[in-house]
Amino acid sequence: MVVSAREEASKIGVEILKKGGNAFDAMMATELALAVSYPSAGNIGGGGFMIFRKNDGSIGALDYREKAPIKSSRDMFLDDKGKIVDELSTSGGLSVGVPGTIAGVFEAHQKYGSLELHEIFEPVIELAEKGVKITTKQKKRIDENRKYFRKINKSVIKFDKDFKENEIIKFPMLAKTLKKIMLNGKDEFYEGETAEKLVEFIRQNGGIITMDDLKTYKAIWREPIVFDYKNLRIISMSPPSSGGICINQIMSMIEPYEIKLFKHNSSEYIKLLVEAERRSFADRSHFLGDPDFIDIPTEKLLSKEYLTFRMKNFSFESPTKSDDIGYGKIDLIESNETTHYSIVDQYGNAIAATTTLNGTFGSKLYIQELGFFLNNEMDDFSIKPGYPNMYGLIGGEANKIEPGKRMLSSMSPTIVEKNNNLFMTLGTPGGSTIITSIVQTILNVHEFEMSMHEAVNSGRFHHQWKPDSIRIESNFFNNKIVKDLKISGYKIYDNGSIGRVDGILVRPDKTLEGGADERGDDKAFGF
Ligand code: GLY
Repeated sequence: MVVSAREEASKIGVEILKKGGNAFDAMMATELALAVSYPSAGNIGGGGFMIFRKNDGSIGALDYREKAPIKSSRDMFLDDKGKIVDELSTSGGLSVGVPGTIAGVFEAHQKYGSLELHEIFEPVIELAEKGVKITTKQKKRIDENRKYFRKINKSVIKFDKDFKENEIIKFPMLAKTLKKIMLNGKDEFYEGETAEKLVEFIRQNGGIITMDDLKTYKAIWREPIVFDYKNLRIISMSPPSSGGICINQIMSMIEPYEIKLFKHNSSEYIKLLVEAERRSFADRSHFLGDPDFIDIPTEKLLSKEYLTFRMKNFSFESPTKSDDIGYGKIDLIESNETTHYSIVDQYGNAIAATTTLNGTFGSKLYIQELGFFLNNEMDDFSIKPGYPNMYGLIGGEANKIEPGKRMLSSMSPTIVEKNNNLFMTLGTPGGSTIITSIVQTILNVHEFEMSMHEAVNSGRFHHQWKPDSIRIESNFFNNKIVKDLKISGYKIYDNGSIGRVDGILVRPDKTLEGGADERGDDKAFGF
């Protein structure tokens, strides 16, 4: 089964499995098919993370996150008075991190894949040539961004058009790029003609990525974060993602409580989760960054003793003030433009992979000749310690810009085992809300006994320490609960929609249930 943000990508992934390919072959196909069918987040100009669990129980994590260019520097987004220059880290050439997606899919395929490259690439190239339908939601997203496409790009790009719903959009230039990568391997993207064109394009648009940056890019195998929650074993992404550590902290802080006794999304349940989230996000901002550049006190942050101490002043009566456990000022801008897909193959191997351009259509820079958008991942660094990024997340010294460093992420592809067997694979876009959406979806299934479909489609809420307010999907919460939280002293912020979780559940009879989030165009396919 494959669940992803687009029907075309899930279908291509499943076709690869039907051909006899395994989850790693399907990963490469689905990731590339998302670059074609879901260009606001699916990409070859961005990066991501993947968690796997093979049918023999072995697990691993792949980091294909973007990195800062060699010529980058700590204050590159500040003016000479030390003020942040508007939009420099979020759009245009300087916001682009060195892309990791192609290195990531090749690394996964080389180590664990079984099909020939052409078997995986050909259906994706055909999709790019034949084109994909513009859905209603996609049209809206394109329309909202046309003014930025015009502002950022030197010439009119193919997305700057008043598309009709269901109109077919074809990608001949992307098809050509993919064909060259299929024939010449990943070096085409990192050392070949494609690399040269990419570097020149970024340079012309004010960026600083060089051939050396591309040549030295490597996807890295990491040890995932693994912890027990009651009778579950959770496997999630390690730094440079904050996901695994924060999910571990939050779930360990709430573990002593009888969650089953709370009503789902009752005010008591929300208060408990919110207070754990507040404490975890405060730690995130101080301690987390690229482990190849800083020392992260992981053991301490995840120790039962420390987490029990953190919750000592928690009370159902009144909120803890975020100012009492940290610092910072905040404005809030939300973007959901990351994308996740989950795969379980017929052999029992499972994959959770989350990939991103960061903002919607990333830096908005579109390289026409090669047919893809470039990320604006540099904004995930703390461009000025103590100030928020586009997700309102405050970073510290640990996440400052340094040449070659990976920016801190919230992406949290996650696999769950129950009684030593595969139980779930899941993930979501949503910036900082990724972490809290994953926790709630696991709890929905495990504590509130929901199906995967119900679990991904029920209402979500989020707290990230700063700003000191609970963000909720207000259409899912009744007035009484909101009133109760306000009386207790919580500020409530209506977030519209939070995340788009895609997951697969292994039911007791070993059949698979896909959960595709109805907030998007997401689709599950299986056989
Ligand atoms: N760009 C969003 C994240 O990595 O968390």
